[in-house]
Parts: sequence; C-alpha cells; structure tokens
Amino acid sequence: MKSLKLLLLLLVFQMQAQQGGMWIPSLLQGMNEREMKNLGMKMSVEDIYSVNKSSLKDAVPHFNGGCTSEVISPKGLILTNHHCGFDAIQTHSSVKNDYLTNGFWAYKMEDELPNEDLEVTFIVRIEDVTAKVLEGIATLTSEADKQKKIQENIASLSKSLPKESWQENKIRTFYEGNQYMLFVTETFKDVRLVGAPPSAIGKFGSDTDNWVWPRHTGDFSLFRIYADKNNRPAAYSKENVPYVPKHFLPISLDGVAEDDFTLVFGYPGRTSEYLPAVAIEQIVNELNPAKIEVRDKALKVQDGFMRKDNAIKIQYASKYAGIANYWKKWIGETQGLKKSNAIEIKKKQEAAFQDKVVKAGKQAEYGNLLADFEKNYKEIAPYALSRDYFIEVVLRNTELLSVTYKMYQLEQLLNNKGEQAFNDRKTNLINGLGEFYKDFNAAVDEKVFEQLIDLYIKKSPKQFVPESLNNVNIKALTAEVYGQSALVDYKDVRELLTGDSKTVIEKLKNDKAYQLVREMADKFTKEVAPKYDEINLRISSLQRTYMKAQLELNKEARNFPDANSTLRVTYGKVKGYEPKDATIYKPFTYLDGVLEKYIPGDYEFDVPKKLIDLYNAKDYGIYGKNGKMPVCFIGTNHTTGGNSGSPAIDAQGNLIGLNFDRVWEGTMSDIYYDPAICRNVMVDIRYVLFIMDKYAGAKNLIDELKIVHPKQNISTTKIKKLRYKKR
Ligand code: ARG
Ligand code: GLU
Repeated sequence: MKSLKLLLLLLVFQMQAQQGGMWIPSLLQGMNEREMKNLGMKMSVEDIYSVNKSSLKDAVPHFNGGCTSEVISPKGLILTNHHCGFDAIQTHSSVKNDYLTNGFWAYKMEDELPNEDLEVTFIVRIEDVTAKVLEGIATLTSEADKQKKIQENIASLSKSLPKESWQENKIRTFYEGNQYMLFVTETFKDVRLVGAPPSAIGKFGSDTDNWVWPRHTGDFSLFRIYADKNNRPAAYSKENVPYVPKHFLPISLDGVAEDDFTLVFGYPGRTSEYLPAVAIEQIVNELNPAKIEVRDKALKVQDGFMRKDNAIKIQYASKYAGIANYWKKWIGETQGLKKSNAIEIKKKQEAAFQDKVVKAGKQAEYGNLLADFEKNYKEIAPYALSRDYFIEVVLRNTELLSVTYKMYQLEQLLNNKGEQAFNDRKTNLINGLGEFYKDFNAAVDEKVFEQLIDLYIKKSPKQFVPESLNNVNIKALTAEVYGQSALVDYKDVRELLTGDSKTVIEKLKNDKAYQLVREMADKFTKEVAPKYDEINLRISSLQRTYMKAQLELNKEARNFPDANSTLRVTYGKVKGYEPKDATIYKPFTYLDGVLEKYIPGDYEFDVPKKLIDLYNAKDYGIYGKNGKMPVCFIGTNHTTGGNSGSPAIDAQGNLIGLNFDRVWEGTMSDIYYDPAICRNVMVDIRYVLFIMDKYAGAKNLIDELKIVHPKQNISTTKIKKLRYKKR
C-alpha cells in the first residue's frame, strides 16, 4: 500500500515535471532542481549557473540580440542556427561566391570572415535588485510617476552598481514589474563567419516545412569569437586572437532516446503566459484572424510573381520568408489555442483565483482585477484592431506605404526638431533607401496594395479610416497612386528629396502616395495610438497586480516569469506526440526522410548531390547509428522565438542538439503551454558534425571539438582514431 502510494506520487510528480516554464538560471535551487533530477539530470544546478566557478552559462552567449549560440571549442568557436547567421552569410555572398547556395567553410583561421554589426553577449552574473529599483516609489500615487521613478532608479543603478570597465550592467524587469534583475554582461564585437552548409541543407524545407514536424533541416552555422590579447572584448582588428572561453560544451555522440532528459539554455524573446481569458479571446477571434488575412493576401500576390519570374524570386525570397514566418505561426497559434481549450481553461483558473481572493480576504486589493480586465480589454478592442491593421497594411506589408511612412516621419521631425534634424535624416534616408529599392518591384507591390488597402477600408474599424477612402474606387486609387507617385522609383525619390525642407515638403504634399499615407498616419497617430497607449498602460498595471496576486495566492503553482530576452533554462524530455486522432509522431527523423522529401531543382526541397552520394554509400562515419543518419528530434522543452540556436544539453552537460523551431500544433505555447502537444524542434548534433566532417571536410573544425561518448565510455582520443580510420 505504502509503495503504491509512493508510486502514484512519483507518477504525479513526473507528469507535473513536464509542465513547461522558462526559469531564471540563478534561481534553480529547490523545485526546479528536484524536477530536473527527477527527469534524469545528473548535474547540480551549480554546474548550470555559478558565479564562483565556470558553468554552462559561460558557454551560452546571446547571438546578436535575437538568437542564442554556444561555445563548442577552447578557441571560441560558436554554433548557432543557419537562419540566425543568414544575414552574415548573405552579406558575404555574391554571384561569384554564392555562400547561401553553396555553403561556406573556412579551412584555415585566416579565411574566417569578419562581420560588421555582429556581436555576442555573455552573462557574467545575475543579481536580484528589486529592492533597489523600487526604492522611493511607495510614496508615489500615480502610475506614471511610479514608472518614471523606476526608470530613473534603473538608469542610476546601471551606472553605480559595480562592474569591470569592459562590462555592462543591464537591469531587466520580471513578473510584469514585480521583480528586477541585474545582468552584468560582456559583449564581443569581433565575431567571424566560420562555416555554413548550403541552404539546401541549412534551410531544407524552407517555408513549407517551417513550424512543422517531421522536420529535416540542418539549421546550423558556425562563427568564432575574437578578443584582444587580454581575452577581453575589442572591435575588429587583425591583431585579435581567438577568444578563450571560461567554459565550452563537450559534444556527445551518444545520441538521444525517447524520454531522455534534455535542457535547453538560451534567450527566449517574449511570451504572454498570464493573460486573462478575455485577452486570449481577443487574440483568437479578432487580432490573429485580421493579421493572418492581411498577410495571406500579400503572400499570395508575391508568390504568384515569384513563381513566374526568377529575378523577382531572388528579390522577394527573404521578404516572403519574413512575412510567412509569423503568418504561419499565428495560424498554428490560433488553432492550438482553440484545440487546447485555452480560453475555457483560463476561465476556470480565473474562477478558482477569485475564490482564493475571497478566502484570503484580499477582495479590496485583488477582487476587481478580472472585472477590470474585462472592462479595459473591451475598451481597447477597436484601438487594438485598428492599430494592427495600420501596422500590417502600412508599416509591414505594403512596401510603398512603409517607405512613404518614412517620409511622413521626416515631416514630423521637421515640425518637432527643426531644419538640422530634418537634413540629417534626409541624408540618411537617401543613402539607406538604395538597399530598399534594389529589391523593390513596383508591379508586385501595386498588386499587394490593391488587396491590402481594400481590407483596410472594409475590415478595420470604420471610425479610424480617413473619410476620403469611403466609397473610393480601389482600382482607380491603385492606378493613381502607383502611376503618379515618385516614391515607386529610387531615382525619382532622390530628386523628390533634393532641396530645402520647404521645397521637399511641398513636393511630398503633391505626391499621391504621400497624401494617402499622411491621412492614414494622422488618423493613427492622433486618434488610435494615444488612446491605445493610455488603455494599455492601465492593462499593464492590472497585469502587474494580477501577477503579484498569483505569486501570493498560487504559491504551489509553477509561476515562471514571462520571457524577456534574458537567459533562461527550460527542461523536459525527448518525446513524440499525438496531435490528432490516429496520428502519432515519433520524436526522431533520419536522412532517409530528406531523400523522401527530395524534389530535384525545387527551391525548398532540392538536395545537394554530395549528400545523396553519402546517403547512397551510407558513409556516415562515426556519426550514424545502426546504418542510419539521425537528423532532427523533438522534446517537451518550453521555448520561443530567440531560443533559436540554443544548445540542447543532456543530463551530464554535453551538447546533443541545437534548438531551431517548434511544432505546428504547439505554437500557442507563447500564450498557453499544453504539455500534450507543445514540442520544440532540435537538429541532432550528430547531423551537424556529419555535415561538417563528411560533407564539408572541415576536419580543422572537428579537431577543435571535445567529442565524448559517455554511455559507451570511449575516450576522446579513441574517437579521434575512429574518425581517421579508413572507412
Ligand atoms: N520558425 C523558425 C523561427 O521562428 C524558423 C524561421 C526561419 N525559417 C523560415 N523558413 N522562415 O524563427
Ligand atoms: N525559429 C525561432 C527563432 O528564431 C525559434 C522557434 C520558436 O519560436 O520557438 O528563435
């Protein structure tokens, strides 16, 4: 009986142990540590984060503010995703040296390519500074004053708190402003491109496979951090030397099995896990469908042109992928929120919360929260919808409108800051716009405009649509704007921008595109944005109190702070899933699947000849298993955008994979994490090494790594011998 009870308890524990969460690495003692050990972790939390000795965190730098990377050699070699290194790879590419298509490999350090504007940031230490940040706000009554004081405190603490001269202090807010943490960081600015597979491997499956399992993408690229001769951050210089890390990740060739422990360490960008049901309802029923419909139309137009014209395909490939990424995510998110009954579940949790408030005698403090949410979300609805239409139609997806909006900002700048500011911005614009017009095709954009302006007029809240657009003939308007505006052509734009401010503004005011954008933007900046901001500030303040209440009243719950681009630990296990009736997904894919998807010459599913040859010869070296080459796997780790490139780490602290995506049915995990269907997608580290070694022949890089085989207890030297053995 007693042991049965224990078993049951253990079962419950294990089920709970899969509930997701993104945890602060310096606060893992207690509940997290117990859970991780239960899941099979063999390390201590000190091995993950420590200020006194080197730990995993010393091997996990933020990659250029948006992705994650990990150090894998004593010479500062780092690994991240192909899509994270994409810009750098593209910048070095030309028709002659097309690294995107063919890949790039530096077989000697001298061949590594420096990158402007590419940096990685390490965390030196993390400290709770809540009390210091909140000093002096108790006596203030208005929300605006409190926020102002907090910002002042943050600014002065960032200056005064101790750090070395080459380091930075960054203070970030957690739990909606209930906790503040200091991050002491070191940022390295000499980061060079070392290796990238061809896009047919690194981006295999492209948009069709994006957010989807089963997946077969070798989404990785390699860079190296360079430091000055004291091993400190320095701007690019020939004299710089490879950075010597405090820690680098050994790489395990053991591979993964279902239910194995995994830990993903990285910089998740943004989540909203504590939204009230009413907010999720708005996302599911109004905001997501509106944004999806706008992008749906834009994508269809672009796709039509891209399929017919190769030059347009090149011009629009990256823009298309950018629009498609979140379009696809919102569709998956909306479906997932519905399917998992997120709204109903939240409503139940809210009812339970309300009971707890009453039981705790906290009605005065927390009793009205949910009603206030209800009121404020109702009030913000038309502003939020109108704002999303403005952002999606004007700022994001109609290129002519977004470039014209820059001119609108130029006029605002003149009004607010005067002639000098105007001239500076004007010069910047003229120079910067060359890039934009290089990939701009007026014929494509005209068709996008025709579709999107129609949606804007018909579907966005009437009261914020300029009067002149009521009953307008869309076709005539489109022809007039694209026929008359100087902004469809770089040469005409430069001409339009010549002269003093008065002349330029005069010319702009006679431009059809400008007239239109000015009307739309005036409506937005005067009637939508201020009201939206005002209500949104109230909502943020409610959200802060709601969070505080949950921390107080739901102590036993797994309250983790929403993602905020700071370093987090998430853990779980390797696990398949069942997204719908009669459909079971296994957690692993193999090279066989790449060949199954192979479409010769296709822009998404082509396969390089050499990879096919290796496959046919089953020439997998020491990286294959039982005659098969593993490619990707999935797990229950709770990740989001920003976790791209994050290391997937095994129970002992070895690298086993590289995070790069989530599965379609689980993309709602930013709002509601359902352990049954939320999975992160990782590329198997053995596939990465196989491509580096057998496909690219980059032995120089493989030789830098510390490759281990803990389960088979094969020494690193023996592994090296095996590698060079004739096969
Ligand atoms: N969905 C992944 C992420 O959110 C990968 C995006 C890059 N790949 C693409 N096909 N657009 O970043
Ligand atoms: N691809 C995403 C990124 O760039 C990671 C996938 C996700 O959103 O979970 O960070």
